Amino acid sequence: MQIPFLDLKRMDEEHKAALKSKFSEMLDKGIFSGGDEVNFLESQISTYLKSSFSIACANGTDALELALRALEIGAGDEVIIPAMTWVSTAEVVVMVGATPVFWDTDADGLLASDWEKAITSKTKAVIPVHIYGKMVDMESLMEMARKYNLFVIEDGAQSFGSFQNVKSAGTFGDVGCLSFYPTKNFGALGEAGMCLTNSAELNKRIRLLLNHGQLVRDEHELVGRNSRIDSIQAGFLNVFFEKFDLFQTRRKIFANMYLEGLTGIDGLQFPTSILKEDHTAHLLVIQTVRRDDLKLFLREKGIGTAIHYPHILPDLMPFRSDGKFSNARMLSKEGLSLPLNPWIKEVEIEYIVKAIRDFFT
Ligand SMILES: Cc1ncc(COP(=O)(O)O)c(C=O)c1O
Repeated sequence: MQIPFLDLKRMDEEHKAALKSKFSEMLDKGIFSGGDEVNFLESQISTYLKSSFSIACANGTDALELALRALEIGAGDEVIIPAMTWVSTAEVVVMVGATPVFWDTDADGLLASDWEKAITSKTKAVIPVHIYGKMVDMESLMEMARKYNLFVIEDGAQSFGSFQNVKSAGTFGDVGCLSFYPTKNFGALGEAGMCLTNSAELNKRIRLLLNHGQLVRDEHELVGRNSRIDSIQAGFLNVFFEKFDLFQTRRKIFANMYLEGLTGIDGLQFPTSILKEDHTAHLLVIQTVRRDDLKLFLREKGIGTAIHYPHILPDLMPFRSDGKFSNARMLSKEGLSLPLNPWIKEVEIEYIVKAIRDFFT
């Protein structure tokens, strides 16, 4: 059996047909930037996530950078971020001229709750990352941020549709940033992203920044750039959104199959909260000290896996920074992502579970 970690060619034929039909509909309309599809995407996401404003943009990295710029974070400012996340979270802080201050994660990879110790007189913001789809405890984080008067930018690139006490990921902080990269649990057929905010002022600033500083053509109010979403991607996302709940249900069913198949193995840790509503099951990351051997063993059996992420950011050349970061480092050495997507087959999960059990016995 050959089971790729993720192969987007495997989408259901029905879903592919709906995407093709959206493409031809949009080709006939001839509107490729802005327009109804973008407006519709923003309004249905605002309703679903209960965000006052949803601002589509070119990708998730831009969403984070736009958020920092809208909050006027720049040279001389420090921004606290977890030591283990996708590189974008740190990159954007450097891109706006500020300094990323890394803090360790907890055992699940979320910013450790004692991040208060990283605060200095220069700290302007904190970026909690809802890594793998699991949400940081946002009520506690917001309480701490308010105490120190810090901005909060949620990196919700992996957590579209996670809710904590009926409030969605991305709607607790000043700005929430989403990625619709094709491999995400809500992905386009190309690059796309979004900022969420409940502030009318930030909504306006982000919209200005992503469109050359103009709300009305040729009336430039500030220096901006082009980070507009492609209308075609908004159209594809609108098609995907109709299936979003179904695809999430499938993810949870498959995650539960793994959970039932893999519990009780000595030396293997399973992400227990993956079935809860504050986890999107975007990634299913197991942990074992024998991670590298297990990865090779599974590869020999035709099973693709991935590592999110093999390095912690403060160890990487552009972000070099001292510190122990024990939990983050452990996760980067022991975490292994198993195939989990709406198109995997039950027999494939059974095969993967058996292979993992065989490895450990
Ligand atoms: C945690 C995290 N932050 C930011 C991003 C950036 O999103 P994008 O790839 O759309 O720029 C990603 C996506 O890869 C991500 O996983």
